[in-house]
Amino acid sequence: MSEWRAVNGLTIAIDGPSGSGKGTVAKMLAEEIGLPVLDTGLLYRLVGSVALARNISLETESPLAEFVESLLDMMEWTVDGICINGDNVTDTLRSEQAGEAASKVAAMSTVREKLLGLQRQLAQKGCIMDGRDIGTVVLPEAPAKFFLTASIRERARRRWAQLKNRGGSSLDAVVAELKMRDQRDMERHHAPLKQAADAIVIDSTTLRADDVVDRMLGVLERRKLITASV
Ligand code: DC
Repeated sequence: MSEWRAVNGLTIAIDGPSGSGKGTVAKMLAEEIGLPVLDTGLLYRLVGSVALARNISLETESPLAEFVESLLDMMEWTVDGICINGDNVTDTLRSEQAGEAASKVAAMSTVREKLLGLQRQLAQKGCIMDGRDIGTVVLPEAPAKFFLTASIRERARRRWAQLKNRGGSSLDAVVAELKMRDQRDMERHHAPLKQAADAIVIDSTTLRADDVVDRMLGVLERRKLITASV
């Protein structure tokens, strides 16, 4: 039972680089205030991994754009993740390979445009949406925007801890891979990763996830976007 109630239709944008803790914090915040979480990274992961499986170039606009349209007809995106033809494929989309492919297709403007409408449509009833361009492009009118950061070493350490059960990789290799991903996400022409001018920046390098959530709750309460439920 959540202690807080969100105002009707509240949208909250959480952006930040890989490993900044967006997903963890979004879920914890959602439990506190009773809003659904929509993870937009899954959409790019789906496009990237299905394109890989079908041998479609990850770096050429037109075949990708056509294919995204047909993919949108087959898939369903909900708070429980992504289903294709009724099968929940979310777990398979969490792999490093899918993340890498996602970062490449995410640089294609036609792919981003085709995914934009779906994201806005699902956000309408209120949600916490996490990604890279939520506060800047997808929901520029969101009344609360957070931009999460953490040092590259700390972000890599978090990912590495998750990876150890998945075949392993050295911490330095994860740092190098994250640097490449950051560069691709921040330097792309269309909707790059950057903080919205009105976003609140939280550096989580030395914070626990629940401390980050407490800060967010403080902001939401001060803005009267949540009220204590009795
Ligand atoms: O958050 P994630 O690791 O699941 O995201 C995977 C990739 O998708 C990431 O490298 C950048 C891209 N992405 C994006 O460009 N825009 C979003 N709103 C979400 C993810």
